[in-house]
Amino acid sequence: MATNQEQRVKGKVISVCSAKGGIGKTLLSVNLAVALNKNKLDVVVVDGDFQFGDVALAMDVKPTFTLKNVMEEINQIDQHAISDYLTAHRTGVKILAGPERPEYADLVTSEALIKTINLLKNGQDYIIIDHGIGIQEQSIELLEEADEILLITNLEMTALKNTKLMMETLRQLGIKDKVRLVVNRFTMESLIAANDVPEMLGEEDAFFIPNNFKIAAQSLNLGIPFVISQSKCDLSKAMFKMAEGIIGKQKQQTVSSNGKTSILTGLLSPRRKGVRGS
Ligand SMILES: Nc1ncnc2c1ncn2[C@@H]1O[C@H](COP(=O)(O)OP(=O)(O)OP(=O)(O)O)[C@@H](O)[C@H]1O
Ligand SMILES: [Mg+2]
Repeated sequence: MATNQEQRVKGKVISVCSAKGGIGKTLLSVNLAVALNKNKLDVVVVDGDFQFGDVALAMDVKPTFTLKNVMEEINQIDQHAISDYLTAHRTGVKILAGPERPEYADLVTSEALIKTINLLKNGQDYIIIDHGIGIQEQSIELLEEADEILLITNLEMTALKNTKLMMETLRQLGIKDKVRLVVNRFTMESLIAANDVPEMLGEEDAFFIPNNFKIAAQSLNLGIPFVISQSKCDLSKAMFKMAEGIIGKQKQQTVSSNGKTSILTGLLSPRRKGVRGS
């Protein structure tokens, strides 16, 4: 629990999205979570793919409770009780697993989802949501509430075309400013130069993640995020850089919005895990 002197800063919500499936949302969500956690930050990954979520598999954990239970019991859950529904990974990262069967996706409502995320904000520095493909009706409000939207593409024409359309939709929703583009597998063979992608999509910059199928596939198949098992590989270096970029942006925002340094203070002072943990 935070003391009066150490006012708890509410966790930041990072929505990981893509216009196309199979593009790397889950791989990047779990590895980003562990990379942030290595910076002594409390992180929860929420499986926002309500039908076929595989965050638990990607981190090799067996959840006792899932989002289905949270949805069913949402009226009885407060900011303390929510931690009972999370599954702990050995790194300390927490997971709110997706429903175990696709038909349970219907139980998920936008209202209950927003409440869940707000409850999680009290005990975490970052809430990473691994969204389903595109923009799901239940998740629109969640995207509106997110602090950052990581929109993932790769160099394939279909991915780029759909990402552009999704950018336009996000602009119409008035939330385009929160988007940070991620060009995954940017070293893959393609007629399109990775460096041209941000401009093509109307962005100034992007995070670039290299192509490394062996390590990516191992990470997902073994359920051991590569930032743990292969912390020096090209993919891991890119993920740590991304984590730094995200932390850096939050620091900037906190300083400019408060004139104070709440999260900055938390990061620079040797805050131990567990001090603010759930
Ligand atoms: N940087 C990368 N290098 C090589 N392979 C990658 C990379 N990123 C993702 N992949 C591969 O792409 C596939 C899809 O990854 P992942 O499951 O994370 O995508 P997803 O967007 O979550 O998919 P879905 O839409 O089904 O949820 C996996 O086989 C993964 O190994
Ligand atoms: Mg996925």
